Amino acid sequence: MVIPIDIIVLLIHLGSPKFQGIQDEECDHLIEVAKDKLQKSMVADSRTGKSIESTVRTSKGMFIRKAQDEVVAGIESRISVWTFLPVENSEAIQILHYENGQKYLPHWDYFQDKANQVVGGHRIATVLMYLSNVKKGGETIFPQSEMKESQLKTDEDSECAKKGYAVKPKKGDALLFFSLHPNATIDPRSLHGSCPVIEGEKWLATKWIHVRSFERKQVSASRKERLQGGNPQST
Ligand SMILES: *[C@@H]1O[C@H](CO)[C@@H](O)[C@H](O)[C@H]1NC(C)=O
Repeated sequence: MVIPIDIIVLLIHLGSPKFQGIQDEECDHLIEVAKDKLQKSMVADSRTGKSIESTVRTSKGMFIRKAQDEVVAGIESRISVWTFLPVENSEAIQILHYENGQKYLPHWDYFQDKANQVVGGHRIATVLMYLSNVKKGGETIFPQSEMKESQLKTDEDSECAKKGYAVKPKKGDALLFFSLHPNATIDPRSLHGSCPVIEGEKWLATKWIHVRSFERKQVSASRKERLQGGNPQST
């Protein structure tokens, strides 16, 4: 277990009894649910917020409906317990698959555009769950972490991993980091990426958590209230 102190807050083995964590079978279940439905991963255009394809991100992925089965609901409620953030603030889990050099260049999880903040506001935190071991490469790196100079590197680490604080994927591990400071301003040191997979394959589950509820229903309800409250322009 590694607990660096700046941006990476928790690296826990989900199997640890304290968190009644994700077991190997749960990892396998998530992969099983996802593997026939993978599509090219997209990124949000920093100006318009629209989903676009990009060479920056070459993985494949898909979203799993929230609480779509008991295993998923169980993981989601445990994530809420570890992060102290409500389930309703989170997006659906995204399953990602990387192989043969596929990567995600360093990026931030908070949005640069306004359109993506309408529902739920900024993303405050991210939980990455490693669903598989990776033979070589595929590390999560934080190029701006204060810890990057002090982390010892070995031959096991890929060249890419040497460019930041690196977390090697281990099946069942989860990594929590925050994209905002406690005062709710963005934290540029949360910059992170996925190093290219050199050997083997990488399966990852991502949970993005917002500052407010991400349930769309609630947003349209409050919009309706506003309209009913009487907007002179709309009557
Ligand atoms: C918010 O917190 C960060 C980190 O402590 C600090 O650098 C920044 O100046 C703060 N911003 C405001 C507006 O208080």
